[in-house]
This record gives sequence, structure tokens and C-alpha cells, in this order.
Amino acid sequence: MRSPSGYNLQPWRFIVLQDLASKEKLAECAFNQRQVVEAPVVLICCGDRRAAESENIEAVIQLGKELGAVNDAFADYMRQAIPQLFENRPCFESLETWTNRHTMLAVAHLAIAAKSFGVDSCPMEGFVGDRVKAAFNIPETVDVCCLLPLGYAAEPMKQYGGRFDLAQVYYSESYGEELQLDF
Ligand SMILES: Cc1cc2nc3c(=O)[nH]c(=O)nc-3n(C[C@H](O)[C@H](O)[C@H](O)COP(=O)(O)O)c2cc1C
Repeated sequence: MRSPSGYNLQPWRFIVLQDLASKEKLAECAFNQRQVVEAPVVLICCGDRRAAESENIEAVIQLGKELGAVNDAFADYMRQAIPQLFENRPCFESLETWTNRHTMLAVAHLAIAAKSFGVDSCPMEGFVGDRVKAAFNIPETVDVCCLLPLGYAAEPMKQYGGRFDLAQVYYSESYGEELQLDF
């Protein structure tokens, strides 16, 4: 919930599944992957594409005003700049890309916060979005970004597959330029 977002628009929404019947229904939309029914809690992590609609903009303004973070001038700027950003889309292809960017950042924070309480999680993209939406009354304007089973893993679900070297994923000053670190 405290994850950052552009203009503080907070598009993430989570459906918390604890009932076995709900988890079984979800598993049918997720290739019957066993962690969906085995985990005590599963989150359906959604991104609401209506984040840039005036109703949400006004809610964010109201929130900021209550905390003294938004004054009238900044509120007016937001009312003008946010719709413009979503019209021009200089840094994202589609509304779906934008909601996914923000929701997955929130999910990443959530997974790390969960781990700090000793709770394991397993982000999942192995699901059929339209089926999940139909089964859980998710509006057309809301995307399912991932599923997140949460619980106490008895053992690692799979063997650690390793990660690329730092040199493969970090560049210096320009894409593809080697980053040299002096330790
Ligand atoms: C966005 C995303 C979607 C994933 N989807 C699935 C999935 O549907 N099923 C699955 O078994 N693992 C999936 N994984 C991988 C597992 O979550 C993986 O076990 C986890 O990332 C831990 O891997 P590690 O041992 O390499 O750290 C996904 C990972 C991410 C980040």
C-alpha cells in the first residue's frame, strides 16, 4: 500500500483468497498449479486502468490535501498534467503497460515485506487472464497482473536457477557499455 506510483495514482488492487473453494476456482484458471491451492493465502494482483480518470485524480488530490502535500496550485497542475500524460504516453505504450508497471512494483514490495515476516511467496504469470476476470467479477477496465500465493514453504518449490552476471545486466553510461566496478 505504501509503494510509490506516478502522481501517487496507486492503481493496484488485490483480491485476497483464503477459502479453499476460491483457490480451487483460481487453480482452474491457472493450469492447476499446485501452489494456488496449497498456499493458505493467494492474492490476485490487479491494476486498475481507471487510475487516470478524474474520480481517481480527485481522490489522490483529496488525500494529498489532507496531509498538506498538495496545495490548490499543485492540484490544478495535476488535473491538467495527468490526463495529458495519459494522452501523450511518452514513456509507456498502453494503459495496460502503465498499470502493470506500478502494480508489479507494489507486488515486489509486498513479497519482500512478506519475507521480512518469514512468509514466502511465488509470483505467477501462469494463468488465463480472461478466465480469472470472469471467475472473480473483475471489471473490464481492470487487468490481472499476477497471482501471488503466500505461505510458509516447507521446501523450495524449485531448485534455484541462478542469475545472470552483473556485467550482463548493468551497463555504464550507455546501453551495452561495460560497467567496471572498483572494489
Ligand atoms: C512475474 C513472474 C511470474 C511467474 N510465474 C510463475 C508461474 O506461473 N508458475 C511458477 O511455477 N513460477 C512462476 N514464476 C517463477 C517463480 O515465482 C519462481 O519460483 C520464483 O521467482 C523464485 O525463483 P528463484 O528460485 O529463481 O528465485 C514467476 C516469476 C515471476 C517473477
